[in-house]
Amino acid sequence: MTGNGGIALATHGLRKNYGSRHALDGLDLSVPAGVVYGFLGPNGAGKTTTMRVLTGLIHPDGGKVEILGQPFKRGDRHRLFRVGALVESPSFYPYLSARSNLRELAASGAPVPAKRIDEVLDLAGLTDRANDKVQGYSLGMKQRLGIAAALLSDPDLLLLDEPANGLDPAGIVAMRDTLKALAASGKTVFVSSHLLAEIQVMADVVGIVASGKLVREGPLKELLALQGVVKIRVQPDKVDAAISTLGAEFPAERLTESDRDEGWLSVRIDPDKSEAISQKLAAASIFVSGMESGTDLEMLFLELTGGKAEGEGSFVGLSGKGTAA
Ligand SMILES: Nc1ncnc2c1ncn2[C@@H]1O[C@H](COP(=O)(O)OP(=O)(O)OP(=O)(O)O)[C@@H](O)[C@H]1O
Ligand SMILES: [Mg+2]
Repeated sequence: MTGNGGIALATHGLRKNYGSRHALDGLDLSVPAGVVYGFLGPNGAGKTTTMRVLTGLIHPDGGKVEILGQPFKRGDRHRLFRVGALVESPSFYPYLSARSNLRELAASGAPVPAKRIDEVLDLAGLTDRANDKVQGYSLGMKQRLGIAAALLSDPDLLLLDEPANGLDPAGIVAMRDTLKALAASGKTVFVSSHLLAEIQVMADVVGIVASGKLVREGPLKELLALQGVVKIRVQPDKVDAAISTLGAEFPAERLTESDRDEGWLSVRIDPDKSEAISQKLAAASIFVSGMESGTDLEMLFLELTGGKAEGEGSFVGLSGKGTAA
């Protein structure tokens, strides 16, 4: 699930203005084929705007889009048959059943084998209610139907804007499994969310946007390794000595005292490398009495998107607390 080498979707300097507001301000994305790509950003960051551009619902004011190896330009909407999408609340005929809605949809697009309708109903967990009118569906059931519709043509690229909206926990787990299985079979899933925990367990690659710009992109594992924090406890009167001992190796930005009275220090380091810290301290006769480590996408997200004013979203120079206001 680390992709098959190619790029399924790319944007270059994508721009979209609403009046004087830059909803997309030169967005560059690079989505490898065969992965689940988590598209993260706070409210108003430009995620839905991006999805709307990618599905041809709106036209960008500048920049380029490439989908499945081809430039995607104005008027190319009809070429999107290898792309499935769920953007905004999907619209269905309320007086028809889920199955009939999917049949209508299938009839209006590229041909789909009849059994595909049952397959996607099953994937979306709607089999039991497939013959009920959509007007009687709950929010989450409509969302499930939207996902089923996006999957209908067995697309190579799936664009999903906040697909977890309205889903119950079981629905979220099922969706996550479906999306991971699709990526494992070589399809590309581009999924936006502000649910960080959800992306953290699902995505192979993550792109974080703020104010219409990409602030970080890369394999989730690498981002989390960079975001690792190891807390070390030494004797309170050894805190300064520990800082100067470690200071030779770790720049000040990566090393902070987190609770001097209790002797705690925080070091930003891949937790897998935490042993090196205790070895270094032991060599200086400073003994570690406690150690905690962890990684947290939420910290990264808050720092990159909320802490922008301080440091243009770089890891270095951010506070050790991980809660830039
Ligand atoms: N039709 C529109 N008219 C005017 N401004 C718009 C329109 N659509 C989006 N915007 C503005 O563009 C910016 C990006 O909005 P967008 O909906 O893409 O954000 P988002 O990342 O999807 O946020 P959310 O997490 O809340 O869904 C926001 O400042 C929003 O107010
Ligand atoms: Mg949105």
